[in-house]
Amino acid sequence: MGHYVPSKVVTNDDLAQMFDTSDEWIRQRTGIQERRFIEEDGIGASDLAVPAVKMACKNAGIEVSDIDAIIFATLSPDYTFPGSGVLVGDKLGLPGVPALDIRNQCSGFLYGLQVADAWVRCGMYKRVALIGGEVHSTGLDFSNEGRDVAVLFGDGAACAIIGPSEDDARGVIDVKVHADGSGAKLLWIEAPASNRMPRITHEMIDERRVYPQMNGKQVFRWATSKMPEVSLEVLGRNGLTAADIDLMVPHQANARINEFVAGKLGIPPEKVMQNIHKYGNTTAASIPLALSEAIQEGRARKGDLILFAAFGSGFTWGAGLVRL
Ligand code: UT7
Repeated sequence: MGHYVPSKVVTNDDLAQMFDTSDEWIRQRTGIQERRFIEEDGIGASDLAVPAVKMACKNAGIEVSDIDAIIFATLSPDYTFPGSGVLVGDKLGLPGVPALDIRNQCSGFLYGLQVADAWVRCGMYKRVALIGGEVHSTGLDFSNEGRDVAVLFGDGAACAIIGPSEDDARGVIDVKVHADGSGAKLLWIEAPASNRMPRITHEMIDERRVYPQMNGKQVFRWATSKMPEVSLEVLGRNGLTAADIDLMVPHQANARINEFVAGKLGIPPEKVMQNIHKYGNTTAASIPLALSEAIQEGRARKGDLILFAAFGSGFTWGAGLVRL
């Protein structure tokens, strides 16, 4: 595992200088105290991914040149096209290495993990760089209208190197993902859109339809129902229970969601990794960023059974089990 966050720390008080909010409101509702934003113009998701991949390779004991496939999960690609996977491959000096972009928002890492696991199991690739990377700060509405969403998100990237295990007991045990597009417009960005002629207008910009929109209450309700449900699904079909889990590493959307989900599963708070207070919601980067830090801090060790769970825009959701 490896991760990277930009150096610019933005506190809740900093946001309160920009629109009507307060440190107290943000902490109480979400657990977030600060987040990281890119330092300057010109830094994209692929740029944040480069140091994360290098750190992951170092920790995996491989060279960057050993990577034979890239999966890049992001909802904030550097450009509409091409994807950030090809950009990071170029920046890492990996010409010819295939790169797949995954657009599954907060569940992107788990969708990517399922693909990487299948590739490695069938012998297609041996060293997959599975990246989650996001630059949210350039696309948030820092006005009173956008304050419910703007306080939540931060920039960051993380990477897992997925390869064959020499020990049958270790590795990816299972990943289960789901989607329900009936919730698509409950957390989305409306424009630019290929179904509009033209895709973008001055009116769309003036009406702030180029910024993320969320029905927070609905998303909260769905997340606290689907994350425990899919966690039990993946535990059950592997003959495991929540009591077997050494550490739960949930998506970091809201500390209250994670407390609620862990409570429903009967997992005590000390077995739940939370770093949302430092980084906010980094969507596709949040699970690998939390796991990377958990390993760095000695909270996740070799042999530990880890449970992942995520819910996000789409709606998409999923859970995964890994023996480190
Ligand atoms: O990773 C993607 C998935 N996203 C999520 O999982 C997010 C899920 N949703 C949530 O976490 C919560 O819904 C929020 C934290 C986003 C909001 O919490 P809430 O308890 O649902 O608040 P609310 O939207 O019902 O707003 C309560 C009040 C409103 O004022 P009134 O109408 O009661 O006077 C809002 O206008 O808080 C107001 N408000 C704010 N006040 C200060 C909304 N945003 C802010 C803000 N600062 N940033």
